[in-house]
Amino acid sequence: MATGQGIALVDLDDDGVDRAFRTEVLVGLKQVQKAVPARWFYDDAGSRLFEEITQLPEYYLTRAETEILRGRGEDFAHLIGPGRAVVEFGSGSSVKTPLLLHAIEPAAYVPLDISGDFLRASARDLAAKFPGLPVYPVEADFMRQVALPEEVAGLQKLGFFPGSTIGNMVPASAVDLLRAMRQTLGEGSQLLIGMDLIKDRKVLEAAYDDAAGVTAQFNLNLLARINRELDGDIPLEDFRHLALWNDDLARIEMHLQARRDLNFRVSGQSFSIQAGETIHTENSHKFSRRMGNTMLLASGWTPVEHWLDSEERFALVLARATEPRSAP
Ligand code: AVI
Repeated sequence: MATGQGIALVDLDDDGVDRAFRTEVLVGLKQVQKAVPARWFYDDAGSRLFEEITQLPEYYLTRAETEILRGRGEDFAHLIGPGRAVVEFGSGSSVKTPLLLHAIEPAAYVPLDISGDFLRASARDLAAKFPGLPVYPVEADFMRQVALPEEVAGLQKLGFFPGSTIGNMVPASAVDLLRAMRQTLGEGSQLLIGMDLIKDRKVLEAAYDDAAGVTAQFNLNLLARINRELDGDIPLEDFRHLALWNDDLARIEMHLQARRDLNFRVSGQSFSIQAGETIHTENSHKFSRRMGNTMLLASGWTPVEHWLDSEERFALVLARATEPRSAP
């Protein structure tokens, strides 16, 4: 396995506090609708809880996407073909990534992730499963164009972005990200992307508010992280987890709702929240086929094929980089 580029992407202050985390929490808690960006869910405890979520009976997304990856290998081999460099946006899943790599016989695998430790561990696992495959992990923020390793410069690329993680972005940011991916991957590239589909609101709300309370713990862990890392005193037991379908915006919203009027401190600053008021912590957008197509087309990608799971809950979409053209 080749080594990553080793750039430190996390900016810590003298007390070891992530400056971006502190700024985004302090700014977010001062807004009229209090909000903390969902990317801060994923400390060690949050990442473990997310793994648990993917196994829950209500959280169908991971099973549905894995079913497609397992069942459509021949289609992938036919439409993608061998010899590409697979560039995965995120560290890679121990189940989904091998299914794709087995199906298409790539020439190299390049996982991109902002978190170096997790990236290197999962790249090592993958290299052990595919001994002949060159693996080049790159520690990078893939929201911007990333310089890929020299070794894959001559290969055509397949971007892989499973999990419907694109749904965690508001549409303007999703388009920015898909454009950045297009720049990273270059002419002649393809993109295989997971998109969760719009469905019955009861099914959606249950997927984000499971009976065992794991998603509630995942949401509340954000407050625990704020208390631990930003010297906060937020009383976790005074917040309740909410997962609500917003039909106009086609998304599940997760919030933390105060059970009573509260005052608390974070990083030496004082905040108050009234009973019933919420902190908005995540959006998870769901797509129709046409909405997904429009988003891809707006970002320089032409949809080629859609595959659905047997219960039509989730789509894997293959797109190709749209050639530059000037006609309408
Ligand atoms: C990572 N992402 C695609 C998950 C989702 O379904 O939006 C995060 C998640 N939040 C609550 N449950 C799962």
